[in-house]
Amino acid sequence: LDNGLMRTPPMGWLAWERYRCNTDCTNDPDNCISEHLFRAMADRLAEDGWRALGYEYVNIDDCWTSKKRDAQGRLQPDPKRFPSGIKALADYVHAKGLKLGIYGDMGLYTCGGYPGTTLDTVQIDAETFAEWGVDMLKLDGCYSNDSMKAEGYPKMSAALNATGRPIAYSCSWPAYQGGLPPQVNYTQLGEICNLWRNYGDIQDSWDDVLNVIDWFGRNQEVLQPAAGPGHWNDPDMLIIGDFGLSYEQSKVQMALWAVLAAPLFMSNDLRSISDKAKEILQNQMAISINQDRLGLQGVRMLKDKYFEVWKRTLSKGEYAVAFLLTANDGTPRPYLANLAKLYIVDCRLGYKVYDVFDSSFLGIFTLIDVIYLKINPSGVVLLHISPVCV
Ligand code: GLA
Ligand code: GLA
Repeated sequence: LDNGLMRTPPMGWLAWERYRCNTDCTNDPDNCISEHLFRAMADRLAEDGWRALGYEYVNIDDCWTSKKRDAQGRLQPDPKRFPSGIKALADYVHAKGLKLGIYGDMGLYTCGGYPGTTLDTVQIDAETFAEWGVDMLKLDGCYSNDSMKAEGYPKMSAALNATGRPIAYSCSWPAYQGGLPPQVNYTQLGEICNLWRNYGDIQDSWDDVLNVIDWFGRNQEVLQPAAGPGHWNDPDMLIIGDFGLSYEQSKVQMALWAVLAAPLFMSNDLRSISDKAKEILQNQMAISINQDRLGLQGVRMLKDKYFEVWKRTLSKGEYAVAFLLTANDGTPRPYLANLAKLYIVDCRLGYKVYDVFDSSFLGIFTLIDVIYLKINPSGVVLLHISPVCV
């Protein structure tokens, strides 16, 4: 969507995967969906180095509203859990140099059963979000049929635009249509949305991460051209720092989301995240790969019994290449790479090669030199490759 927003993939934090629809503030006050939670995450984003690296969105997901609209037909936050209201929360977030995202659903109800946005409430909801100072809307797609979605998603895009407030627009529409043509029209999505969920919800497990990666690989001919500045495929939240991924597996998710030019929305507890998870999520070279200004999504070049090789073309003649050892049979395995086989051949003099997670310089390699890599089980080596030619 050409609204000037998200020229590189958005970065921030999103409540859903970790906090779900926890509304029990009586027994679980620190983890329920409430203004307290979003303020706490805004504090951590601002104070713990996240904002400085680009993680700027604090995003509300489902279950934030009352069970009913107000007397004027507007969505209203649950009064117990958001006693100060969304405008005050937006002000708080903005004062920290951050942005606030909110959640709606094109349909009768949200997926969690809260009031949805129907065709006749698209405009009032867009206006309400703009009045509150919201910076981003995720519009989910539960409880609506295909034709309601086909009318509603473009309608909301136009309604947000008409408010005059820059509001980034995340569309879950394709995920409800199987994610592929002919049901999904990626040309149209690129015109009306800044990002979109293509596929199912990520859950906190390695199997899920692998499954998402594989779906993006299998369908890359359709997906790769759909992404670019202002319009991104969204393989869903980063679950690094939660419960399901090992240290190596966490690096895999970060590497792949960087190579895929994916939105980087963490769903974790920034108040108690481990140093190791934080180090992965705050890896500057991985972030700069993700944020490369060309905005070209990477592709899978190889998948065999043990390995996957993913390559992203970056600006300035640079590349990022991720080598995954998906097999989990206990032992690290060697991978003998060379630039020619990766089709990285423009600079005949050779390339400087960095190991992103090791933060080490591996050397300058000609096109045929062997780059000896050792990859851990369900792990990754992510290389940043830059030409010595000027
Ligand atoms: C759907 C979405 C999730 C989340 C939930 C909320 O499943 O895909 O990302 O927003 O709804 O209920
Ligand atoms: C149609 C076409 C696409 C594109 C969109 C624009 O669906 O198939 O190629 O032009 O409309 O909305």
